[in-house]
Amino acid sequence: MSYARVLCVGLVGVAGHVVEVEADLAPGLPAIAISGLPDTTLHEARDRVRAAIVNSGQKWPNRRITLNLLPATLPKFGSAFDLAIAAALLGSAGELPLLPLERVVILGELGLDGTVRPVRGVLPMVAAAARAGLDRVIVPEPNAAEAAAIPGVRVRAVDTLHRLVAFVREGSPLIDPPAPEPASPPTGPDLADVAGQGYARRALEVAAAGGHHVALLGPPGTGKTMLAERLPSILPELDDESALEVTALHSIAGLLPPSGRLLRRPPFQAPHHTATVPALVGGGSGLARPGAVSLAHRGVLFLDEAPEFSKTALEALRQPLEHGRVQLARARGGTEYPARTQLVLAANPCPCARPAGDTACECSPLTRRRYLGRLSGPLLDRIDVQVTMLPVRAAELMGADAGESSAVVAARVATARSAAAERWATVGHRLNAELPGPLLRRPPFRLPPRDTAELRGRLDTGSLSARGFDRIIRMAWSIADLDGRVRPDREDVREAIGLRTGEGL
Ligand SMILES: Nc1ncnc2c1ncn2[C@@H]1O[C@H](COP(=O)(O)OP(=O)(O)O)[C@@H](O)[C@H]1O
Ligand SMILES: [Mg+2]
Ligand SMILES: [Zn+2]
Repeated sequence: MSYARVLCVGLVGVAGHVVEVEADLAPGLPAIAISGLPDTTLHEARDRVRAAIVNSGQKWPNRRITLNLLPATLPKFGSAFDLAIAAALLGSAGELPLLPLERVVILGELGLDGTVRPVRGVLPMVAAAARAGLDRVIVPEPNAAEAAAIPGVRVRAVDTLHRLVAFVREGSPLIDPPAPEPASPPTGPDLADVAGQGYARRALEVAAAGGHHVALLGPPGTGKTMLAERLPSILPELDDESALEVTALHSIAGLLPPSGRLLRRPPFQAPHHTATVPALVGGGSGLARPGAVSLAHRGVLFLDEAPEFSKTALEALRQPLEHGRVQLARARGGTEYPARTQLVLAANPCPCARPAGDTACECSPLTRRRYLGRLSGPLLDRIDVQVTMLPVRAAELMGADAGESSAVVAARVATARSAAAERWATVGHRLNAELPGPLLRRPPFRLPPRDTAELRGRLDTGSLSARGFDRIIRMAWSIADLDGRVRPDREDVREAIGLRTGEGL
């Protein structure tokens, strides 16, 4: 036999596509050609595969080798094709009977010594195989747990090329994936730890109910970081579709915990203010790594000490936040990752970061304005909820009664979100923050004039932009959902104005 075909999967963004690896041997001078839009990593594959085959004690076919990866139009990144290429080569040379690998998807990178190395993105690759009706996969041993998180697929793992060869030739065993870890109750910081700050807590709850972006302003030590870190604890679990997408992104980043389960909690990403642009939005050679904004997809992106981020970093976040996805320019076709996240900014009022009332602060009003001004253009415009936090009082801090726990607040948020999802189902939305402005300004969702009088007044006097107008209406819906009203009333609009302008203390 001089022709063989083995199945693999290529990723375009988070979507996997089944790829056929064809190998053909022809008489002639020993040479190897790869076609089918391979990237540079794939050319390196040629050298790895050759070394791995030889060092596994197999015969390298000294003929004219043509490798073709189909569909040719699909851009292919990364090193997950190595193992399939090796199998196809050995098959075409008649060294390996490929019948046992019929309709089996094979994923893995090869080391020069023939070991099979883990690859990023195995979870979405296996999901793609399953969708294509292929229910058997062979993956690198370290990726076996994540592969097994996809239901309905029979996963086997390999540690070396030799093991794969022995399986095909002699039926010797492959490696079974580990049993999935039992689901553990959510851990993490609880809202009950936060004393006082009733107004900020309410603001966070409204933000959670509608998926609104939040800015927490105030002097150091007021609990800004504490509060932001507790936002995920009041958000509902991810539904199946979101869980798959979020887990896929973490798999592509190579950051999946080895639990063998889909991520069900909304992710929380808190990049440091020294983070590079690729770390924030994604990038890198080969299979592009999702950045923090994509790892926070369907969860929370927290920029602590936000004015300390570089201007380029803040600027780079603007597009993803606006469109809910990141476009990464690549040499060969762009890559797109989802990035629908809830942004939380925290900022001190001035760069010296002294506690409130500290007389050593010599920052002038201008310095202070400039400091927060760094946020204004790119990001502050997109913020819905803006809260200024004051130092917590001793009586509150030492008080006997703890604040409400995350579980109690999460229950209200979940009820509010269901109400919103039900209402917007007919217009194809779920969260209040996602609603297009025009839809909210027209019947049947337009609020009666008597309830929006103050808002329209602010618009007419220019103290509020049209964008701000829409943001306030969206928040008013979240407040109504939390308080169990079918539509916002005048008080809800007033509370929303306070949340948006920071006047609501
Ligand atoms: N509202 C609060 N309730 C309980 N502890 C608080 C509160 N605010 C601040 N603290 C304490 O102060 C520390 C610093 O809070 P942090 O959230 O980092 O403040 P900030 O981010 O505003 O500077 C916390 O670890 C906590 O011990
Ligand atoms: Mg802080
Ligand atoms: Zn200062």
